[in-house]
Formats: sequence, C-alpha cells, structure tokens
Amino acid sequence: MLLRLFVFSALAAVLFSGPVTAATEAKAGPVSSLENGKEINGTCAACHSENGQGGKKGEYPRIAGQSAKFIESQLRSFRARTRINIPMFPYTQERELPDEDIKDIAAYLSAIELPTKMPTFVGNEDALTRLQMVDKVMIIPRADGDLENGGKIYQKQCVACHGKTGKGRGMFPMLAGQYTNYLKRQVDLFLKGDRPHDEEGMVGVLNALKESDIQDILAYVTSIQESQE
Ligand code: HEC
Ligand code: HEC
Repeated sequence: MLLRLFVFSALAAVLFSGPVTAATEAKAGPVSSLENGKEINGTCAACHSENGQGGKKGEYPRIAGQSAKFIESQLRSFRARTRINIPMFPYTQERELPDEDIKDIAAYLSAIELPTKMPTFVGNEDALTRLQMVDKVMIIPRADGDLENGGKIYQKQCVACHGKTGKGRGMFPMLAGQYTNYLKRQVDLFLKGDRPHDEEGMVGVLNALKESDIQDILAYVTSIQESQE
C-alpha cells in the first residue's frame, strides 16, 4: 500500500514536473507590459473582438481607443460590482485580473487606433495586409435625429466632460465612435439609477432631458466621429 502510494507520487512528480517548471520559467522571464496586455486581450477578444471593436451591433461595446484611465476604472467597477456586468464579472475577479493586469490591458487597448475612413492602398500591400487594414476600420452608421438640436444640447451640456468632438479624456469616456445601441442602453441604465453617471449622483444632467433630445444627441454624436480635436 505504502509502496503503491510511493510509486504513484513518484510517477506524478515525473508527469507533472515538466509543465510546472516550464510555467514557472515563463512567468519569471521578462514579460513586457505590452506583451502581457496583448496576451490578456486574447480573453477579451472572445466578446470584444481582436481589435477591441466590440460587436453584435453594440451588445459588446468598442473598447479600443478608449482612455486607459476609463478602461481601468470600469474594470475595477465590474470587479467591485458597483457597475453590474454579469458576462464580464468572472474575468474581473482578483485571481483572473490583478491590478497589474488591469493596467496592462487598459494601456494595450487604449493604444489601438481604429480609422474612421477606408484606407487608400499604395499598391504594394499583400492581400493579408489589405485585409488587416480594412478590418480595423470602424464607422458607426448615422443615427436618426435632429442634428441641430442634438448638437446644441451636446455642446452645452456634455462637452465639458466628453469633449468637443466626443473623444472624451481621462475618466470621461469617448462617445463618438461607440455603437449607438450601446450608448442608448447606458443612458437607460443611468436614468433608471442602475449605473452611476458621474459624481453628480443618481439624478443628473441626463434626467432633465426629453427622450427625443437624447435621440438627437446620439444622432449628433454619430455625425462627429471623423472630426479632429
Ligand atoms: C463574455 C463576454 C465578455 C468578455 C470575455 C469581456 N467582456 Fe467586456 N463587456 C462585455 C459586455 C456585455 C459589456 C457591456 C456591459 C453593459 O452593457 O453594461 C462589456 C463592457 C466592457 C467595458 C465598458 C466599456 C464602456 O465603454 O463602458 C470595458 C472597458 C470592457 N468590457 C473591457 C473588457 C476587457 C479588458 C476584457 C478582457 C479582460 C473584457 N472586457 C472581456 C462582455 C465581455
Ligand atoms: C460632469 C461630467 C459629465 C458630463 C457633463 C456628462 N457626462 Fe457622460 N459620463 C461622465 C462620466 C464620468 C462617465 C463614466 C461613468 C463611469 O465611470 O461609469 C460618463 C459616461 C457616459 C456614457 C456611457 C459611455 C460608456 O462608454 O460607458 C454616456 C452614454 C454618457 N456619459 C452620455 C452623456 C451625455 C449625453 C451628456 C450630456 C447630456 C453627458 N454624458 C454629460 C461624465 C459626464
């Protein structure tokens, strides 16, 4: 009995020592923040796509090109459940995503640039390069609404935080270049008090607007995605 146990543990030691040491070595090696971010993105890509473009018409939001600070703050909110995100919750748990990884994945995603225009080819690109260039283009379709009214309200009430061209900064997310469906869903969550919009608390700037005003703002935001800051 004792012998069998010994043989088993010796066998186990032989069987398992290989992969274990390999994993330890890989961890000990110098992995740059960028490589680490890229590796973590493999997990995120299952829903948000390889280039962080999101998908399914905004069921999964675009996360590429958002400010690193905002991405970090959202991952922490998901982890702490101050912002409820059931699909993402398991990935944000401490063991899955420690603070260091949050920094690396946020930096990686925020550096991805998604052009808003189809590329012009020089002529010497191979098919794969062309495919990759086209694949990165992200153009949000124009949403219906009164652009003039939406623009007026946006420039008065949203611009201070989300920026003149909707690109956001720091803790304020970009709105231009994000799926309209996604933004609308977030506004509904804010209005219901299910997600805090800003330090202002549960009742703020959005609650004072008519539903048609919000639609007009979202339409306006789709009209400014190509403009420069
Ligand atoms: C199983 C699918 C899934 C995976 C995997 C996933 N996400 Fe998400 N993520 C979502 C969904 C769904 C939402 C939108 C939730 C909502 O509507 O409030 C979201 C929202 C976000 C947001 C908020 C964006 C915004 O503008 O408000 C960030 C940031 C984010 N995810 C980052 C990540 C990162 C980084 C990873 C990888 C570590 C990841 N996600 C993995 C499904 C996923
Ligand atoms: C005082 C600053 C401030 C103002 C003004 C403001 N916002 Fe925001 N907004 C924020 C912050 C901060 C967040 C991110 C909240 C969080 O951390 O979850 C946000 C998030 C959003 C989001 C969700 C984006 C995402 O990717 O998750 C939408 C949509 C939005 N704001 C719309 C608006 C509109 C429309 C207006 C004008 C009527 C407006 N906001 C005015 C600060 C502001």
